[in-house]
Amino acid sequence: MKVDLTRYTCNHRFSFDQVFGEQASNQEVYERTCAHFMDTVFEGGNAACFAYGQTGSGKTHTMMGNGTEPGLYLLAAHDMFRRRPHEMTLHVSFYEIYGGKLFDLLNSRQKLRALEDAKQSVNIVGLTDHPITTVHDLMNLITAGNELRSAGHTAPTRRGRSCCVASARSAAASGPR
Ligand SMILES: Nc1ncnc2c1ncn2[C@@H]1O[C@H](COP(=O)(O)OP(=O)(O)O)[C@@H](O)[C@H]1O
Ligand SMILES: [Mg+2]
Repeated sequence: MKVDLTRYTCNHRFSFDQVFGEQASNQEVYERTCAHFMDTVFEGGNAACFAYGQTGSGKTHTMMGNGTEPGLYLLAAHDMFRRRPHEMTLHVSFYEIYGGKLFDLLNSRQKLRALEDAKQSVNIVGLTDHPITTVHDLMNLITAGNELRSAGHTAPTRRGRSCCVASARSAAASGPR
């Protein structure tokens, strides 16, 4: 209803790049949404994938999978190892943003500082970087880091927002790309 009380219908147009039915597998979702991000990643770029939607809409199912079906995280990890060039080593770091502060989840929750350099890019000072050679290594580090998070899964409203940053760099390079 408008301020002068006349009724009106508000129309929105939405566009979607992909639409999936309820029977679509996580593998199918991965292939048609995230798989091409790997091209960007191996060209030195950054890619992000996040799930957004109402509670119960299937975010956790899609990202984490279940006992029988892997989620997008695991599918992406397999793809990353499968596609990496022979000489490239992969390193992972994992930190949590909680109450506006940063903590290294792979270094006993060491407090970190986010500083901007002369090129205006944000650097997380002191963040540790761990070499991984298999998907299993990656998942072990994520599990270990998750255990150091400030609150468990039972307190969703108080839980801090965590990010996992995986950085890939070649063996010859001296720093993360
Ligand atoms: N594509 C799917 N196929 C089968 N079950 C699904 C699918 N998506 C979600 N579910 C189930 O629906 C419920 C809610 O999904 P969930 O991923 O927990 O939602 P969210 O994380 O968005 O709150 C869970 O029991 C989940 O296993
Ligand atoms: Mg969920």
